[in-house]
Amino acid sequence: MTINIALLGFGTVASGIPFLLKENGEKITAQAGTEIQIAKVLVRDDAEKQGLLAQGHQYEFVTDITAILNDDTIDIVIELMGRIEPAKTFITQALQAKKHVVTANKDLLAVHGTDLLKVATDNGVVLYYEAAVAGGIPILRTLANSYTADKITKILGVVNGTSNFMMTKMVDEGWTYDEALAEASRLGYAESDPTNDVDGIDAAYKMVILSQFAFGMTIKFEDVRHEGIRNITPEDVKLAQKLGFVIKLVGEIVERPSGIYAEVVPTFLPKNHQLATVNGVMNAVFVESIGINEAMFYGPGAGQKPTATSVVADVIELAKGIDRGEVLPAFNTFTRETVYATKED
Ligand code: NDP
Ligand code: HSE
Repeated sequence: MTINIALLGFGTVASGIPFLLKENGEKITAQAGTEIQIAKVLVRDDAEKQGLLAQGHQYEFVTDITAILNDDTIDIVIELMGRIEPAKTFITQALQAKKHVVTANKDLLAVHGTDLLKVATDNGVVLYYEAAVAGGIPILRTLANSYTADKITKILGVVNGTSNFMMTKMVDEGWTYDEALAEASRLGYAESDPTNDVDGIDAAYKMVILSQFAFGMTIKFEDVRHEGIRNITPEDVKLAQKLGFVIKLVGEIVERPSGIYAEVVPTFLPKNHQLATVNGVMNAVFVESIGINEAMFYGPGAGQKPTATSVVADVIELAKGIDRGEVLPAFNTFTRETVYATKED
């Protein structure tokens, strides 16, 4: 048996998938219990298709999603186009066509995740999105599968690779804001429109998703106060250093007796704080809980190979179940009514 996958979009992350399937094919096949192959790739138009063919890519490139939706041999659709539309429509259609879906699209999951998960359940298929938070760090499955006996009280996260990379370059190497942003884009860390990266929106989306996995509550994106790094000046950085602090864009979710509160703000961290040493494109999620107490998960938050690795890990989880003819499990999250606290509670 072979599991056929279709890619929607062939940009930074998607083009890392062939690399992994080739370089780590033996292990991936053994883990999945079956071979995994790319059957079709949706690209924007004929010009992109011709360009990719000219570069030597030998996939079946299509420009119409129906070629994938109507293909009964395709088991898993991987959405890596980004943004809300047409990603939302295509994912919905794929789930309705009884195809499992893997995505790294935090924008979409933070705003429409609940609805999409319901479409998946209603159609007996699964939606996985490990890569949507902190790129290469396997944080969602860890929270879902390894914190089952624990009660999490606080999450602190440096979860936007672009802004952390930019701040590191500006502080350590004296780069300008524009130079740092251009390099983050060139390296494939930044979104195609980097507004969400530098304005704290991307990190706020990730707080919404983490709130579900860590606290069983779904905070609305509008209820995550967020501010980005756009207005941080070299003077701010120097003042922080003089006082023994570093500035990081930190996302926080805390559970208080009255409910949960979430925000993303540039934060003065003492130099000896664990998150203060997270530099460049690295991310970290710091978890406080009543059982484990303190744990920190650290790794690359963006970039082609780290992110593609998380995507392929989701595909392997799906392939294992498909191969055995099992009903596949959704992410093992628990759910409670969402109750908000204020910052001052
Ligand atoms: P890219 O912009 O590099 O790739 C997206 C690709 O999808 C582009 O080639 C784009 O074409 C194409 N595309 C967009 N719309 C369509 C469409 N309607 N039909 C066909 N193709 C389309 O993005 P990334 O690979 O960086 O990111 C993909 C997803 O992964 C996003 O949701 C992102 O947030 C997420 N992610 C990215 C990470 C990273 O490190 N880059 C890390 C974690 C998550 P065009 O260029 O013409 O618009
Ligand atoms: N643009 C995002 C970042 C990609 O820089 O963190 C990973 O989600």
